[in-house]
Amino acid sequence: MKKKPDLSIDFCGIKSPNPFWLASAPPSNSGYQVQKAFEDGWGGAVWKTIGAPVLNVCNRYGTMDYKGSKIIGLNNVELISDRPIEVNLREMAEVKRNFPNHAVIASIMVESKKEAWQEIVKRTEETGIDGFELNFGCPHGMSERGMGSAMGQVPEYTCMVTEWVMEVATKPVIVKLTPNVTDIVQPARAALKAKCDALSLINTINSIMGVDLDTFELRPNVGGKGGHGGYAGPAVKPIALHLLSAVGSDPEVMASKVPISGIGGVETWQDAVEFMLLGSTSVQVCTAVMHWGFRIVEDMVDGLSNWMEEKGFEKCTDFIGKSLPRISNFGDFDLGFQTVARINHDKCVQCNLCFIACNDAAHQCIDLKELKLKDEVNERLWPVVREKDCVGCDLCSVVCPVDDCISMVEVDGGRPHITWNELTKSRPEVLEWDKMEQYRKEANIHIH
Ligand SMILES: Cc1cc2nc3c(=O)[nH]c(=O)nc-3n(C[C@H](O)[C@H](O)[C@H](O)COP(=O)(O)O)c2cc1C
Repeated sequence: MKKKPDLSIDFCGIKSPNPFWLASAPPSNSGYQVQKAFEDGWGGAVWKTIGAPVLNVCNRYGTMDYKGSKIIGLNNVELISDRPIEVNLREMAEVKRNFPNHAVIASIMVESKKEAWQEIVKRTEETGIDGFELNFGCPHGMSERGMGSAMGQVPEYTCMVTEWVMEVATKPVIVKLTPNVTDIVQPARAALKAKCDALSLINTINSIMGVDLDTFELRPNVGGKGGHGGYAGPAVKPIALHLLSAVGSDPEVMASKVPISGIGGVETWQDAVEFMLLGSTSVQVCTAVMHWGFRIVEDMVDGLSNWMEEKGFEKCTDFIGKSLPRISNFGDFDLGFQTVARINHDKCVQCNLCFIACNDAAHQCIDLKELKLKDEVNERLWPVVREKDCVGCDLCSVVCPVDDCISMVEVDGGRPHITWNELTKSRPEVLEWDKMEQYRKEANIHIH
C-alpha cells in the first residue's frame, strides 16, 4: 500500500502532528477546550493570550453577514484572557502532560516593562509549554493601555520587547504581527533584529462593523456605545495572504529562514494550502472554529492529505512557499498576454448580468442577439461577445452566476510580449499598441 503523506511539521523546533493550530482566541481559552481540540485532530494551539489583568464587556462580537451567509467577517472588542493566570498556567501544564506530542504555545502580553515581560516568560516556561507567541497585535482595549498593537505598530518597540523576551526565554519565541500598519515588513524586520525564532500573522484588522439605522448605535453595542474592534474571518483572507506573502518574500525574512505561522480567514483545507503555498509552515484558525466548532479540522486533515497524495508531496516542506516565486510586480507582467471572453450558450441562463456589466461598467463589447441554438425556440435575446472589441478585462466572467459559462480564452492578438518595465526603461513615451512594434524594433527591446 502507498505510504500516506506525512503531515507533521517542525516549526522552529516546535513539533506538531499536523500544521493546523488553534489561533490565540476564545476557542483556546481553557484546558478543557484545547484538550478537546487535540482529541478532535488539531495539531497545536496558541493559548488565548495571558497577561495583564482585564475586565471584558458584554456584547463583544459584531458580524458581517452577506446575503444569507452568516459571519463572512467577525468583529470583536474582546480583550485577552480574563481568567486568573495561575489557572491558565495550571491547565497549560496539564494539557502538555496529556498531549506531549502536540504543540502548546503560550500567547503573552503584559505592560511595557522589562521585568513584567521577563517574569511572565519565566513563570510560563515552568508549565512545560513548547513556545511563546508575543501578542503585539490586539487593536482594541489593550492598545489604549500601551499594549498589543501599540507595540506592534512601532518597530523600535517590537524590537525592544522581543529582545527582553529573548534574553530569558529558553523556548522558541514567535512574534505575532499586527496588520494595522502601512508596511508590515518593518515590524517583521524589527522582530528579526531582536533574534525572534518565528513570525505569525495576521492579528485582527481595525474595523467598525456598522450602525443601527433605528437606534443610531454602533454594532456591537455595549450599553448604547460602540467603537472600533478587530476584524477577522473569511473576509480578511485576501488581506492576510497579501501580508503573508509580503513578509515571506522579504529578502531579510527569507535570509533569516524563520518559519511563519499564517492566520486570517482560514476555514477549509484549501484555504490552509493557499497559506502554506505562500510560505506558512503552520496555519492558525479562530473565526471558523467559533462558527463551526473544532471538528472542521477533520476535513482539513483529510483534504490536505488527499491533496498532497494527488500532487505527489510526501511531506509539508515539499510545498511550503512553492507559490512565492510566482509573485510578481505589475511591471513584470506580460503586456502581450491577451484573452477574450467566450460565452458557452449551452450553459447561459440569459440573466444578462454579463451584458449589463459590460455595457454599464466595462467596454460595451457584448451585444444582445437572436440566436438559434440547437432546436430550441427561445424568443429572448442572448449575450454575444464582439471579440474584436473585447479587452479581456474579465468582468463578465466574474459576474456570471453560472460556473464555467463564460471563460477567458487566450488569443494571439499580435501584441509583442513585453513587460511594462522593459517598455518604460527604453521608451517611456510608447503607450499605444499599434506603435509598439515599430518602437520595439527601434529600441531593440527583448521579445519573449
Ligand atoms: C473574539 C476574538 C478574540 C481574539 N483574541 C485574541 C487574543 O487573545 N490574542 C491574540 O493574539 N489574538 C486574538 N485574536 C485574533 C486571532 O488569534 C486571529 O489572529 C484573528 O482572529 C484572525 O484569524 P481568523 O480569521 O481565523 O479569525 C482574537 C480574535 C477574535 C475574533
